[in-house]
Amino acid sequence: MTRILAIETSCDETAAAVVDDGVFVLSSIVVSQEALHRRWGGVVPELASREHAVHLAPAVRRALAMAGTEWSALDAVAVTRGPGLAGALVVGLNFARAAAVGRGIPLIAVNHLEAHLHASWLASPMALPSGHTPDFPVIGLVVSGGHTELVVMHDWDVVEVVGRTRDDAAGEAFDKVARILGLGYPGGPAIQAAAALAPATTSGSGEPDARDTLSRPWMRGNLDFSFSGLKTAMLRQVEGELHGNGTPVGNPSRLAEVARAVGHASAGDNAARPVTERTARLARAFQEAVVDVLVSKACEAAVMYGAKEVVLAGGVAANLRLREALIAASPVRVRVPALEYCTDNAAMVGAVAYRQLLRGEVSGQGLDIRPNLQIGER
Ligand code: KG4
Ligand code: ZN
Repeated sequence: MTRILAIETSCDETAAAVVDDGVFVLSSIVVSQEALHRRWGGVVPELASREHAVHLAPAVRRALAMAGTEWSALDAVAVTRGPGLAGALVVGLNFARAAAVGRGIPLIAVNHLEAHLHASWLASPMALPSGHTPDFPVIGLVVSGGHTELVVMHDWDVVEVVGRTRDDAAGEAFDKVARILGLGYPGGPAIQAAAALAPATTSGSGEPDARDTLSRPWMRGNLDFSFSGLKTAMLRQVEGELHGNGTPVGNPSRLAEVARAVGHASAGDNAARPVTERTARLARAFQEAVVDVLVSKACEAAVMYGAKEVVLAGGVAANLRLREALIAASPVRVRVPALEYCTDNAAMVGAVAYRQLLRGEVSGQGLDIRPNLQIGER
């Protein structure tokens, strides 16, 4: 049995976990900085680093206590080295390095995006180990605040990117559109909640009302994505309705200005407002368009690459509509992470680190962060 202490500080979650054999999560502590960053409508890097410095040691202590383990029982320390915010990554990496040196155990540097891809195979300590081995090749859809990538996992460590966003990441689009609609921060859960309030379709045909439908950015002929056009379409809707005639007016780059003009969100004011029926319908229209494109391309990739499974990963994988639609449409088995392992956490870092330890991929003490790390790099 191999016991790993894992640390994650790439963005705005300070996280520590103890994971056995890369699968069994003995403890997973996540200290969210959401409330701190909410008033700015997004993550403020310097504030994030300082918060990590304050909260990491207590988080590690809690993770060890909850796992009922001592430092002496650990076989390795794992940490995210990238991609992420430089100042945030440094805090986790320095802590992990000091712990590894102090205990004389291996230090394992993990790619945050690969960690997300491993989250679906995590289990509670009571689970049976069977059923936790993927059948390769696996299509992975990584959808987070910073990334939207479609990959083929030929094996745990052989990951090929076959499609990616050309502009905004899916989570980023959710966050920006939530801001346009005055739905607060972070946008993904807010849009999902607002969309759920939209009334059933009204046309009588079972089809959504045309006013509730956005055209999809298909990017035909490849597996890439583009979400900035959807954001602009939402902005034009809001802007047009602001002027009372539904006619698009103005320059879409005036996002913050328009959001302020419609009395929705501005810096320092990102708390959610009561949701009107129109806002709920727009939230649903946006969510449906994003989900439709993500699901279609993931399924297309599954057929194209003869995949045996499709795995969903990253913060947007928490979206219930996306999970439901992918499960309904996929030609092969779908794995989705438990909700607690969709958004940033350290258990997923422990999962990928275990595979690296088995392969002897251990870092030296001069390890550095890699804020721009790509999938497939370590
Ligand atoms: O993976 P993550 O925690 O951080 C990054 O590595 O980026 O992802 C955060 C992103 C945010 O953009 C957030 O709005 C989105 O995941 N998100 C969701 C949901 N929950 C979180 N998007 C859609 N629906 C959700 N339920
Ligand atoms: Zn993430």
